[in-house]
Amino acid sequence: MVKSVVNPWEVTGEVNYDKLIRDFGVKRIDKDLLNRIKSITGEIHPMLRREFFFAHRDFEPILDQYEKGNKFFIYTGCGPSGPLHLGHLGTWMFTKWLQDKFDVEVWFQFTDDEKFLFKQKSYEEIQKWTKENMLDVIALGFNPKKTHFIVDTWHANLLYPEAIKFAKKITFSTVKAAFGFTNDRNIGEIFYTSMQAVPAILPSVLAGKMIPCLIPLGIDQDPHFRVARDVYPKLGYPKPAILHGKLLPPLKGMEGKMSSSEETGAILTTDDAATVKNKINKYAFSGGQKTTEEHRKKGGNTDVDVSFQYLKIIFEPDDKKLAEIKRKYESGEMLTGELKAYLIEKINAFLKEHQKKREEAKGKVEEFLFSR
Ligand code: TRP
Repeated sequence: MVKSVVNPWEVTGEVNYDKLIRDFGVKRIDKDLLNRIKSITGEIHPMLRREFFFAHRDFEPILDQYEKGNKFFIYTGCGPSGPLHLGHLGTWMFTKWLQDKFDVEVWFQFTDDEKFLFKQKSYEEIQKWTKENMLDVIALGFNPKKTHFIVDTWHANLLYPEAIKFAKKITFSTVKAAFGFTNDRNIGEIFYTSMQAVPAILPSVLAGKMIPCLIPLGIDQDPHFRVARDVYPKLGYPKPAILHGKLLPPLKGMEGKMSSSEETGAILTTDDAATVKNKINKYAFSGGQKTTEEHRKKGGNTDVDVSFQYLKIIFEPDDKKLAEIKRKYESGEMLTGELKAYLIEKINAFLKEHQKKREEAKGKVEEFLFSR
């Protein structure tokens, strides 16, 4: 097995989430916490039920405050380096659910600086992706009155004065240890974590009072906040709470995460129906047997079957249906081709709607961009 690495810029190997809970020092979301969430939201999102969002830091105090009438805001973000894929959308669909259920503001950071610094791409290209990616976020249905986009280089006047306060309290050796940076890294990369730290306090800075912050994220982003969380109290702010999601596996199998830089591994938000069909049929790793005969006898393995995993994580929210598919596939009654056909239909129905809303979003960007 490939050695597993999980950090904001690299996810390789098969991710062991139990080990990450220990290594990162986060808490598992347990039954009690799920029940507490349910008592407020009235339902448990499938991604919580199915442990896709599986861990947290300090979520209880956020709920304590909420129950006393002190609302939190949500902070999350997008690194605009290319077209978006289903992995991004999954996490943000859950974020939108949180916004709706708790009726709270969402602050959405677009880290154009990060992607310029870390990728071999020009500033102009990153600007193009920033604008493109915004359309996908808007298409997911975030409430325009309660959702604020901030772009690192466009809102530098707001972010930079706060970022330097973080930067002054984070040493080079801390960043090196957290991210494994070597001496040949550019100095922008070393500074960057302080930019990602800021939106967790920005609404408090602007309002002139403390507002609790909740950050839903893919767990690969946690190291930034592990570094920054030590700094918040030093600047007079509470540590933000975090909800950790797992990473959507790429088409080729359960190792690494879906990424736009690997073309055959990702389903893009802009893929048409024929492309989706082709990618799933050609590349989605199957947990089925080599021949139909063998499959009928032994059945398939849903733990490693990527198509089943996509249904479980995003595309089949109905528990009964999912259980039925699992039973049929594992018993050999359902073949890989049938499972794939079911998934293709689900994804294409979703993307058809999404792409329509994505077009409509072109006239709405201004509504979402934060301005004072
Ligand atoms: N760095 C993230 C990325 O590359 C984007 C991001 C910025 C983010 N702020 C965040 C993600 C807060 C989660 C939470 O995708």
